[in-house]
Amino acid sequence: QASIPFYDTVQAGIVTPSQDFLCFASFDLVVNRIEDVRKLFREWTEAAAQMAAGQPVGEESSNAFLPPKDTGEAAGLLPARTTITFGVGPSFFDERLGLQAKRPASFKVLPKFPGDSLLEEWCGGDIGVQVCANDLQVAFHAIRNLTRIARGKAVLRWMQEGFQRTGAANPAGETPRNLLGFKDGTGNPNVNDRELMNSHVWVQPSDGPSWMENGSYMVTRRIRMRIEVWDRSSLQDQETTFGRHRASGAPLGEQGEFDPLALDKKDENGKLAIPAMSHVRLSHGDGSVKILRRSYSYSSGMDLKSGQFDAGLFFVSYQRNIATQFVPLQERLAKQDKLNEYIVHVGSAVFACFPGAKKGGYIGEGLLS
Ligand code: HEM
Repeated sequence: QASIPFYDTVQAGIVTPSQDFLCFASFDLVVNRIEDVRKLFREWTEAAAQMAAGQPVGEESSNAFLPPKDTGEAAGLLPARTTITFGVGPSFFDERLGLQAKRPASFKVLPKFPGDSLLEEWCGGDIGVQVCANDLQVAFHAIRNLTRIARGKAVLRWMQEGFQRTGAANPAGETPRNLLGFKDGTGNPNVNDRELMNSHVWVQPSDGPSWMENGSYMVTRRIRMRIEVWDRSSLQDQETTFGRHRASGAPLGEQGEFDPLALDKKDENGKLAIPAMSHVRLSHGDGSVKILRRSYSYSSGMDLKSGQFDAGLFFVSYQRNIATQFVPLQERLAKQDKLNEYIVHVGSAVFACFPGAKKGGYIGEGLLS
């Protein structure tokens, strides 16, 4: 349950191996003076660094006539590998703060994709904060205290909790399974390969603007699963939907989870082993466009209208450029993916996640100073 340093050249929570839980919050600003936003980001930075270290927020006061600085529910708990990752949405660059000229040219609200069924209450936001931790109480405490600090400057717009199997339930740390029962994350690029991360995840000096150098662009999609329909489909249908075996996670026709996708291989009937409309074939493409997925399952009770689960995947991906990485990928999936029979995208947001903050500095300093 070690701590992950908050101050670094890049923000923690991107190439950091996934923690057990997610608490994601999207905020809207209620101020339009840049000084107020700077003050908020300074306060958030200090609080985030304290919480990542497992410390309470602010100095404890002995004045019983004041509300305590920290809300208290994480007192005595370990840091639980907490990471807090901050980004700003395209609306942060509208006329309110006068930052229009600073918006990176390719950073915009996502286009509408075929099949999208987006609900306003799960979309957008001026600021996105991803909190991940190995304990949900610790993660919630972080979002709660950041929200409290923001009072009068920013308000919650939407919030989503997420989970995957915990380290306690799977000490071997195998690839977690999503709620459709398949291993999810196998084909991700290796986060320990700095060169690969520089090519696909971290914004490079040549990309501009300089305030985003060593930052990354995040996409979130709240994807509801039609679990009840999926549960009535055959194993064969499920496996051809993904193009992988359910039990092992191996590509169809292969044995090992990490065997390469044999895209040209045919079965005994002369059909492609990994079908043309399968999720892995379409998302892999020619292999040149890669994104770093860091998604969590969600379960938000039931949909009272249909009596079905409101559960699915809170998809999160990081990339160097959304327009040339996520967008073409999702365009292909939205048009052809066999998985579309079983999922519907109901939420969408994009955030430009800053480079890491230096001790004494604050997140977004390059943009706001
Ligand atoms: C691969 C599940 C949505 C991009 C996979 C795999 C699974 C999976 C099981 C195979 C194992 C792996 O490599 O992780 C899902 C589910 C989704 C979903 C359940 C929705 C509920 C998306 C979306 C995108 C995406 C929206 C991007 C636009 C990818 C990529 C791969 C992948 C890039 C790796 C392909 C490769 O092997 O190169 N997904 N996915 N997925 N998915 Fe998804």
